[in-house]
Amino acid sequence: MLSIAVAKGRLLDSFLELLSQANYNCEELARETRKLVIDVPQANLQFILAKPADVPTYVEYGAADLGVVGKDTLVESDKEVAELLDLNYGYCKLVVAVPSELNISSVQELDFNSRVASKYPHTAEQFFNSHGIQVEIIPLHGSIELGPIVGLSEAIVDITETGRTLVENGLVVLDTIMESTARLIANRVSLKTKREEIAELVNALEGVI
Ligand code: PRP
Repeated sequence: MLSIAVAKGRLLDSFLELLSQANYNCEELARETRKLVIDVPQANLQFILAKPADVPTYVEYGAADLGVVGKDTLVESDKEVAELLDLNYGYCKLVVAVPSELNISSVQELDFNSRVASKYPHTAEQFFNSHGIQVEIIPLHGSIELGPIVGLSEAIVDITETGRTLVENGLVVLDTIMESTARLIANRVSLKTKREEIAELVNALEGVI
């Protein structure tokens, strides 16, 4: 059986749809349940329902053979896993944004030591370092757009999908750090020990992406 770590919510729903198109019937998962490990024997799959940021950790340690995770989260985690497939859904952008009243149009115009709130502290730090811009990164766990509103930070680094949250909180994009979609990742040992099962699943998914 192949185990797959995936977060509940949008990424899981789209992944289940993809699996069903690829003839892996996993409708057990659609049922409302509090179980965190769900076996789907007819598809030879086991689902491990984890928090999004933890998915690469389960896969790196081999607690799960495979994982489904956003590229943004994968880059931030910096884990030793193999990236197998771009699943082509869950599109979003990781951006630097500031309040519109700041009246600046590039990250170079940010004040020295500006505070930047983010759920992606490592990726944000790397981005500003690579541009030679000195900032103070303030790690948060969510609702990042609050940062500038309550005076916690001058800027934010966060994902945007429709752009609505930015607009409704008076923020404008200064720069795009990366574009992201959902990826299928694998544990490096499982890739060898379960080579055939993984190849079969990857081929089936490739056929419907
Ligand atoms: C994400 C992100 C933004 C929002 C962007 O938040 O952090 O807040 O979605 O979406 P939009 O561009 O379509 O408005 P999420 O819902 O994951 O919750 P969080 O803020 O607690 O991380």
